[in-house]
Amino acid sequence: MSLTLEVLVVGGGIAGMNYAVQLADKAGGRKLRIRILSKATVHESSSFHAQGGVAAAMCAEDPFEDHVRDTLAVGEGRNDADVVRLVVKEGPAVIRGLIGLGAHFDRDRGGALHLAREGGHRAARVVHHRDRTGEEIVRVLQQRVRDIPVIGTVMDQRVIELLTEGEGAYRRCIGVRAVDLRTGDVVEHFAHVVILATGGAGRLFEHTTNPAGATGDGVAMGIRAGALTRDMAFVQFHPTALFTGVPGTVGLVSEAVRGAGARLIGITGRPVMAGVHPMGDLAPRHIVARAIHREMVRTGARYVHLDAGPIGIERFRAEFPGIAALCRDTGLLPGRDLLPVMPAAHYLCGGLRTDSHGRTSIPGLYALGECACSGLHGADRLASNSLLEALVIPRRAAETTWETRAPAAAPASQVIARDRLAKRPVEIVGRATAALTHAMTMHVGIVRKTEGLESALRVINCIERQVLPIWHRRRWSPALMDLRDLLVVARSVTEAALHEPVSVGTHFLEEPEPYDRPMAHIPGGSIN
Ligand code: SIN
Repeated sequence: MSLTLEVLVVGGGIAGMNYAVQLADKAGGRKLRIRILSKATVHESSSFHAQGGVAAAMCAEDPFEDHVRDTLAVGEGRNDADVVRLVVKEGPAVIRGLIGLGAHFDRDRGGALHLAREGGHRAARVVHHRDRTGEEIVRVLQQRVRDIPVIGTVMDQRVIELLTEGEGAYRRCIGVRAVDLRTGDVVEHFAHVVILATGGAGRLFEHTTNPAGATGDGVAMGIRAGALTRDMAFVQFHPTALFTGVPGTVGLVSEAVRGAGARLIGITGRPVMAGVHPMGDLAPRHIVARAIHREMVRTGARYVHLDAGPIGIERFRAEFPGIAALCRDTGLLPGRDLLPVMPAAHYLCGGLRTDSHGRTSIPGLYALGECACSGLHGADRLASNSLLEALVIPRRAAETTWETRAPAAAPASQVIARDRLAKRPVEIVGRATAALTHAMTMHVGIVRKTEGLESALRVINCIERQVLPIWHRRRWSPALMDLRDLLVVARSVTEAALHEPVSVGTHFLEEPEPYDRPMAHIPGGSIN
């Protein structure tokens, strides 16, 4: 009798769901059970909130070599060129696959796909569903997940550790340890293959476009288990998050808005990107974010303006309904009012090192999506290449998974401790998290200096000394679980940045002479 292949997917966003669907589709009569473990609903994932779209060379006038060239140019030579070619080449096929599943993408009057333009792209090549592309892709994948009986979703599972067995070359990942967020029970789940698809770590910084759950769980667990990382120094700041003055998750104003004609101007009316880069407002993100940061320092303002006047009120409302609603909530009418925007942490370009099939350095462990680093992005990510990656690499990972030898049945899940959840968050955790995000924002943000990076490391060391003893006392609040993971990722990003002696991509080391005049505190960036 053949064994059932047991697969655990940690994270229920687009990369995780896509993998599960692809694996089930390739089962061909073989026995399979996939459990997707999720700490929150998919509506709270970065995938769901993705506005822009999927970059893909969809027409004859836009050969895929041009998409490859733009990806390499934005990544400033730190990409894996083979992975770039492979992922970009599969773009049109994954778009056709999604359309086959029922995804609706915007079309022009002639019925051709409407392609938006975003930063770093020399052509319009972003396939999108108005400004809610993530939501649309989640919709079709979620339906497929529901329709496939071998895929089950286990909610409220906060995975805290990877389980491995064996030593040296024989060491492999055999499951995960999770806390059930409803009961507080600690549960061990076993499998032949474990997939991390946990998303990014935007919560390392005071302002982020990421949802609250972006705490770097997968990267942190992988690092604790000894998995290799890659490109951790590179954190992308999106140039245009809506400024509200409140820290935490901030609303995104998609780059497609600039692609449609909006322009960045300083509070004194000066065009921010004039003379900065030949691509102007659609330069690669690290260039635009840095120019905005410089303008904020120059003027002392906490934001610059995005002028959507060239788009007009009606067209803006039709093409960007989600962003229009976001602006309306703060009393702004895009097309009429200037929108206050600032850079905010958006995407972790680095992550757990994988090959082009999503395999990490630990056998039995895969990483997909933002927690992984396949080499596609390099030192900065080309806009809308992340959804592309989340659609392409999981498909390849699913093919490879079927080569896994499952010599014995995986043990059943078991509860190993009861009610470990602390009902009240320990006050020190809140203060420590604020201190960490402040240090990361000041010293490991858009502009970095060696002594700033060293000072951030001292803060990380100090917080670890205060907080880890609370962890070892084994009363765990969700806030403590988040902070423990954020600390691991913060250390990894900061140490990687200290190992980058020259500026490249999102890693910008300040010249000895600072910008025109210093300022006390800049949201989303650092000056000292
Ligand atoms: C955007 O719409 O500007 C974000 C898209 C992305 O990060 O790829």
